[in-house]
Amino acid sequence: MRIVVTRRIPEAALVELRALGEVRVSTQDRPLEPDELRKAVAGAHAIVSMLHDRIDESVAEAAGPQLRIVANVAVGHDNIDVRTLTSRGIVVTNTPGVLTDATADLAFGLLLTLTRRIAEGDRLLRAGQPWSFHLGFMLGSGLQAKTLGIIGPGQIGRAMAKRAEAFGLHVVYSGRSEPKETLLRQADVVSLHCPLTPQTHHLIDAAALRIMKPTAVLINTTRGPVVDESALADALLTKQIAGAGLDVFEHEPDVEPRLLELDNVVLTPHLGSATVETRTQMALLAADNVTAVLTGKAPENPVRT
Ligand code: DGY
Repeated sequence: MRIVVTRRIPEAALVELRALGEVRVSTQDRPLEPDELRKAVAGAHAIVSMLHDRIDESVAEAAGPQLRIVANVAVGHDNIDVRTLTSRGIVVTNTPGVLTDATADLAFGLLLTLTRRIAEGDRLLRAGQPWSFHLGFMLGSGLQAKTLGIIGPGQIGRAMAKRAEAFGLHVVYSGRSEPKETLLRQADVVSLHCPLTPQTHHLIDAAALRIMKPTAVLINTTRGPVVDESALADALLTKQIAGAGLDVFEHEPDVEPRLLELDNVVLTPHLGSATVETRTQMALLAADNVTAVLTGKAPENPVRT
């Protein structure tokens, strides 16, 4: 069996995969270009992919008819053409559950950092600017008794709600069927936890931002294209909304340059699941899914169309 891993993963998962056959891990410290990816997967029975790999029919073709599984090391699977792969008999799996707490922690961290101006204060000190304590100095806004609107009430959305309730926020939800306009109108904080699909692409666009309160903030830890990043920059510059905490970007790794200039924006480079423990569990879960499929068993985390 040949297993192709498109980016370095924790050793514990490689040990599990090596028990199945030959493991080829990309030695590049960057995402593979589409041509490199197609070349790398030739002859693979399993591909362990990352969220930046576009896995479509051309990749399945390049791998060959023996390809049995694509195990994405992510809960999101918008990078994979699941329908096409499934129709070719290839199993697609993801890694739900193990990153729920880490991602919710990061989302709530962005919220606190933004509303209490933590990153801004850090920048002020590092710039050596003079300051002194006074009652009006660098005031943020409190979260207690505010309303958090969760768009996408899945595992991560509910974990974010749990943290918010512990801080005294009132939580409202919008899922697939509930109208998001009501939530946008009433929320002081809008936090995005829905997957990226054709339906959620630019879910937060100029019109949605116009509905939000001028005091509201937006948190995005799901996928960048759920937000129209240029419309968001416009809304922040014109003070249509008060701030944003973003871990994901529409054209990663690029960030809309206007966002970099704004003090009422907190930015992190797709760190939602980035803890040693979580990333190890994600890689192990992907390895378990590969092991199951290559040994003729049902994987724990199949992605269904
Ligand atoms: C995921 O798993 O989809 C995350 O974005 C990776 O942290």
